[in-house]
Amino acid sequence: MPVTPADDLLAFIDAAPTPFHAVAEAAGRLRAAGFAEMDPAARWQPGGPAFVAQAGSLIAWAAPEGDPARPMRLIAAHTDSPNLRIKPRPDIGAAGFRQLDVEPYGGLLMNSWLDRDLGLAGRVVVRSGSRDLATRLFRDDRPLLRVPQLAIHLDREISERGLLLNRQQHLTPVWGLGPASDGDFVSWLAEVSGVGSGDVLGWDAMCHDTLPAGFIGANEELISAPRLDNLCSCFGAVSALIAAVDASAEVLPAIALLDHEEVGSGSATGADSVLLRSVLERLVSARGGDSEDLIRSCAASMCLSADMAHGTHPNYPDRHEPNHRIALGGGPVIKTNLNQRYSTDGETGARFRLLCDRMGVPVQEYSHRNDLPCGSTIGPIVSARLGIPTLDVGMAQLSMHSIRELMASADVAMMVEVFAAWLTT
Ligand code: CO
Repeated sequence: MPVTPADDLLAFIDAAPTPFHAVAEAAGRLRAAGFAEMDPAARWQPGGPAFVAQAGSLIAWAAPEGDPARPMRLIAAHTDSPNLRIKPRPDIGAAGFRQLDVEPYGGLLMNSWLDRDLGLAGRVVVRSGSRDLATRLFRDDRPLLRVPQLAIHLDREISERGLLLNRQQHLTPVWGLGPASDGDFVSWLAEVSGVGSGDVLGWDAMCHDTLPAGFIGANEELISAPRLDNLCSCFGAVSALIAAVDASAEVLPAIALLDHEEVGSGSATGADSVLLRSVLERLVSARGGDSEDLIRSCAASMCLSADMAHGTHPNYPDRHEPNHRIALGGGPVIKTNLNQRYSTDGETGARFRLLCDRMGVPVQEYSHRNDLPCGSTIGPIVSARLGIPTLDVGMAQLSMHSIRELMASADVAMMVEVFAAWLTT
């Protein structure tokens, strides 16, 4: 049976329990499509399609030759999702249980993490000789952890006041019985990574849902998966760039998959860092250009900031703007917020509408209720940092920031098709 874009999205998500794995998966797909990996510390020469990966972020481009001031067509998306991450001194316990101390990352829907079988994945940093370090990825998909919910008999107010969870007290997973002892986690990590316990010097470890992504619904029209926000857009960007690589275009197609959006993007590899700008600068100077060429290129460039959009919830229609209903399966969604929580303006929105019209793909318009605070994404940050006209686009989903999110499988193919056209427009 042919692999549909929706099938391929499920494979991408299952391969990427953490931003580091998302970057590794994207890098593997790009390499297989002929992209070269650039060393961030080396001097870059002009060449064919390539990418540079740094921790949980990856930037890739096709067709870098030619005029240094050539305009770019960018797609930017984030690799991180809200989850539970392991603290530096994780071995704790209570009431006869061994537990791991975690820190909630980003705005997770805490209730969705209760009573789920959780695995652990991330990267481990180990000693390599007496002066060097080596970093490697690890993952363990066995159900290692669970955050048990309190029984209803011990929480009689739950039906009146709802479930109240304290981020410090109520999210600590159990991972066994018996007394906790310092070094339990490190021993486990060393074993799963195939290194000696004494060599583990650091980690970025996080919990993930062990249930694979899948199709659901009477006719399997829906995708139930973790991390759709925003691995769906990362998958779309990578697939689109690979599809665009041979298109002869007057523009330079590029994608930026960036970490730490869920916590504000202010990190060495986030959208609010010098990373993306410095890579674009290097692409210009590798073609013999200077800072004037970069500014000229940015002025004629366009960026599509890809992040998921809120579909209209059947059980809570009142939470949505009544004249901006969004259907799952209804095609890409342009997100507009006139207070600049989204970057779309009249002109960038119009460009995308024109593109969708040309492709025969339906397009939807999202606007948040005025009496609810609107979320944001990397669009406004990338646009402010680079001076590139930008718009925010996403595919519709429900349950954003739940451990299991929901979207329509039909939207995946439309996304890939439109993103590929965007990169060469
Ligand atoms: Co997002």
